[in-house]
Amino acid sequence: MKKPTKKNSHKFQEESKVTFDNIVTRSEEMRSVIKTAKKVSSSDVTVLITGESGTGKELVARAIHNNSPRKDGPFVTVNCAGMPDTLLESELFGHEKGAYTDATSTKKGRFELANEGTLFLDEVADLSPAAQAKTLRAVEEKEFERVGGEESIYTNCRIIAATNKDLLTELREGRFREDLYYRLHEVPLYLPPLRERKEDISPLIELFIKEFNTKFAKKIEGVSNVTLAYLMRHDWPGNVRELKSLIRSTMALIGRDVIWLEDLPFKIELIDEKAIHRLDQDLSLKIMEQEHILKVLNFTDWNKSKAANLLKISRPTLDKKIKEYRLET
Ligand SMILES: Nc1ncnc2c1ncn2[C@@H]1O[C@H](COP(=O)(O)OP(=O)(O)O)[C@@H](O)[C@H]1O
Ligand SMILES: [Mg+2]
Repeated sequence: MKKPTKKNSHKFQEESKVTFDNIVTRSEEMRSVIKTAKKVSSSDVTVLITGESGTGKELVARAIHNNSPRKDGPFVTVNCAGMPDTLLESELFGHEKGAYTDATSTKKGRFELANEGTLFLDEVADLSPAAQAKTLRAVEEKEFERVGGEESIYTNCRIIAATNKDLLTELREGRFREDLYYRLHEVPLYLPPLRERKEDISPLIELFIKEFNTKFAKKIEGVSNVTLAYLMRHDWPGNVRELKSLIRSTMALIGRDVIWLEDLPFKIELIDEKAIHRLDQDLSLKIMEQEHILKVLNFTDWNKSKAANLLKISRPTLDKKIKEYRLET
């Protein structure tokens, strides 16, 4: 079972080495989820991780694997969504030579490759009825046949499944088998969306800036207060993945040490009326002031005397506000 592990030299190794220490959160709800995840690491119990796309389901699955007695075995992932049924079955269970016209050689499936390790069944709600039946048997009896094969193959893998759909609804509406649902549902873990744990935004930004400073050889110190206020206001439909890719694309282009509002590529709809109403008045007024000062400064090409004139405030007051809001690096 013990395989030599290579030293971490490339991205894949980094990702595959994820532990619970790499999961950043200040949210009480997330902390209690992680506590449960740690507890179930040591046994072979099946875990079902639910949550919107980008909330960290795969990250948690990897952390469980790397914290389990199977950590020296493989962590094999398979995405059950968006694949034609025959292809998915061959992915999961493998096929024998000649099973299809283009099956020129025998291929091992993911259940087989995950032997002695963990199989991560991503988007499990999208399994077809036929694949669900075969998966149930593979999960329950640890036995299956390759497509086009007769011989039963035994696999000793631990299953972690994930979905962004509500599996109970899928079950009630007849799209998901009840027996498989209960088999996968032994320990359910729900990851809340980022908009419901906004206290995580700031520490996550810090983490990603550190990561991309290393990757891009940059020395970004952080985001300005105005930028942070904007990012706190956003609803993050793409959750942590959206935040990470925003920081990545911003840092790829930036030429200074602090991320200002205008450095953000405005792919995201930051001005979200509903979100503004959720902020308390004091904060939103401050944000408006910061935004407005920034706009006027940009308008005058950072000629502060001109800007102070336009804003109808004194030059020292403007300087004070620029400092207070960290508008300038
Ligand atoms: N709490 C977290 N701390 C650090 N990185 C995170 C956290 N949550 C998510 N990520 C990162 O965000 C990205 C998306 O997470 P992922 O696990 O792929 O989400 P999902 O599987 O739910 O779509 C990954 O790059 C992951 O490393
Ligand atoms: Mg995923």
